[in-house]
Amino acid sequence: MTLTSKKPRLGVCYYPEHWPREWWADDAARMSAMGLAQVRIGEFAWSRIEPERGQFDWAWLDDAIETLHRAGLAVVMCTPTATPPKWLVDSMPDMIAIDSAGKPRRFGSRRHYCFSHEGYRRESQRITRAVAERYGRHPAVIAWQTDNEYGCHDTVLSWSPAALVAFRRWLAERYVDIEALNSAWGNVFWSMEYRSFDAIDLPNLTVTEANPAHLLDFRRFSSQQVKEFNREQCLILRELSPGCDLTHNFMGFVTDFDHHDLAQDLDVAAWDSYPLGFLEQFWFSADEKIRYARQGHPDVSAFHHDLYRGVGCGRWWVMEQQPGPVNWARYNPAPLPGMVRFWSLEAIAHGAEVVSYFRWRQAPFAQEQMHAGLLRPDRVDDVAAEEVRETAAVLARLDGHSSVKADVALIFDYQAEWMTAIQPHGAGFSALRVCFEWYSALRQLGLDIDILPPSAELSGYRMVVIPCLPVLSQTFVDQLRTVEASVIYGPRTGSKTMHFSIPENLPPGPLQSLLPIKVVRVESLREGLLESEADFSVSGWLEHVESALQPELRLHDGRGVLFHHARHRYLAGLVDSATLQGIFRQMASEGGISVRSLPEGIRTRRHGNVHFVFNHCAETRSVAALLPGTDALLMGARELPPAGVAAWVGDGVRK
Ligand code: GAL
Repeated sequence: MTLTSKKPRLGVCYYPEHWPREWWADDAARMSAMGLAQVRIGEFAWSRIEPERGQFDWAWLDDAIETLHRAGLAVVMCTPTATPPKWLVDSMPDMIAIDSAGKPRRFGSRRHYCFSHEGYRRESQRITRAVAERYGRHPAVIAWQTDNEYGCHDTVLSWSPAALVAFRRWLAERYVDIEALNSAWGNVFWSMEYRSFDAIDLPNLTVTEANPAHLLDFRRFSSQQVKEFNREQCLILRELSPGCDLTHNFMGFVTDFDHHDLAQDLDVAAWDSYPLGFLEQFWFSADEKIRYARQGHPDVSAFHHDLYRGVGCGRWWVMEQQPGPVNWARYNPAPLPGMVRFWSLEAIAHGAEVVSYFRWRQAPFAQEQMHAGLLRPDRVDDVAAEEVRETAAVLARLDGHSSVKADVALIFDYQAEWMTAIQPHGAGFSALRVCFEWYSALRQLGLDIDILPPSAELSGYRMVVIPCLPVLSQTFVDQLRTVEASVIYGPRTGSKTMHFSIPENLPPGPLQSLLPIKVVRVESLREGLLESEADFSVSGWLEHVESALQPELRLHDGRGVLFHHARHRYLAGLVDSATLQGIFRQMASEGGISVRSLPEGIRTRRHGNVHFVFNHCAETRSVAALLPGTDALLMGARELPPAGVAAWVGDGVRK
């Protein structure tokens, strides 16, 4: 089956092995009738596919795929490697991961494997080959998902004997000479020098903090292990399932491995979107957690959509969309009526090819029995089912579109987040969080944004925003020298070498060739300790800068906070959102980009020539100022209700 239309489509995650066989045909017919086009299966089914080593039971899965195929549904097959079965773990007990406290991460849930275990790597390839040989050329199968959410449940870093052996090998290949490693890491400090690569341990269980360079290399190594694990599966799938898209479902807010790097082996990036769970579990204020409890934070889904559009080089899906209350956050409220439709259209507006719901029917047993599905456990439609039908009806009226390149590029690098996690210097400092907050400030000005890695091509952007990037490669600096955009750098940018030291010329290191400033001291500020001026404040982080430039923003004692030279600006502290928006507004006007301050909870997004307006508030909001004449509206209204979406066809694509 080929699905060639550029029209976005809907899908669902289905676990036929959870249900009596007699239900499958009815399930498939109802999926089709609901407007779903594709079904993801096989994800955690290893114990049913291979109940004992070498004894495969394909009959049930053959039957499930045929049933879906007969109903006109396409299939996304999975490799089942996130859940190695008990017989396998028992035959190879040292394949399980070890946590940083040295404790085994035992069988009994999922993701209980170590990426560095060679035996498990062979098993992963063996089961991938078996499933791909069976279904790689099946006419229903259009795509493959590798594993499930690498890194979820804190599973990238494994502190196991297998990881230790592989890490030493990785270090030896990278540094060749142990003295090169000693000098790169600064091991003369505290007498940490090694005489051979075999003497190096993993950086856990140390008395006080381990050497940050040691930790950073361990993170780089661990990220590489995930990439290789995934790559081994991809090579087999490419051989046995030619023409099918390869994807992986990344999890929101997981940053422990480099998604840009891993995605080089994929065709499509996918991510799993749980807006209410994310709001509850992450850094948002108590006030935001209440205000957006049933809608999700206005920028969280959008941030990830824009991130994964970049990870997938333009092609991306939502593989799992929250359909109702989840089970895993501290509190699990139900979405406002209409939110499932809203989240689906929001993803489409950001360019998703597919929105697929997790899951078809709520399971009455095991860990996720309190997690909603499109259907209730008693097979009756749950609230989301009708919203999926409504979404399908809207999609039928929309033409297929490609995403328009945004005016603004925001640079995010996974390594930056590892570095600020290793050495936050002030509690809670996170490069990801700074990126998110800058993104949110830009979105409140109605701007569309592409989130890109530092290796991306930046020509054509009018504004480049680099919130926090401690390591700057010379290639990147050379590119920044030639871009036509206004560029802004946030605190800690250029503050470290690739070996986690302070640059010889002090931060911002190589940026000094673009902007004559020197950061001579940094301080972190506890919550409530503000540097407040009449019209702005700095919280959390403040740098002391030496420069002959006249700062554009300064504290009462004269210390500069914002420096500007030619097209480059450096912000030496974390400033309040209104000030940040003011700076972005100024940059936008220099770049000829129009902006407007959106009302609280309202966001806009253009996709192709369709303009969308989203109301994330729990109350009706007037959005008349953002809309053309009512007769031109594809959907929505000037008074947009809670969970309301308005859309209209506007100008064509910017050249
Ligand atoms: C995802 C995961 C799914 C399921 C879901 C529940 O993170 O991929 O398998 O656990 O969460 O919300």
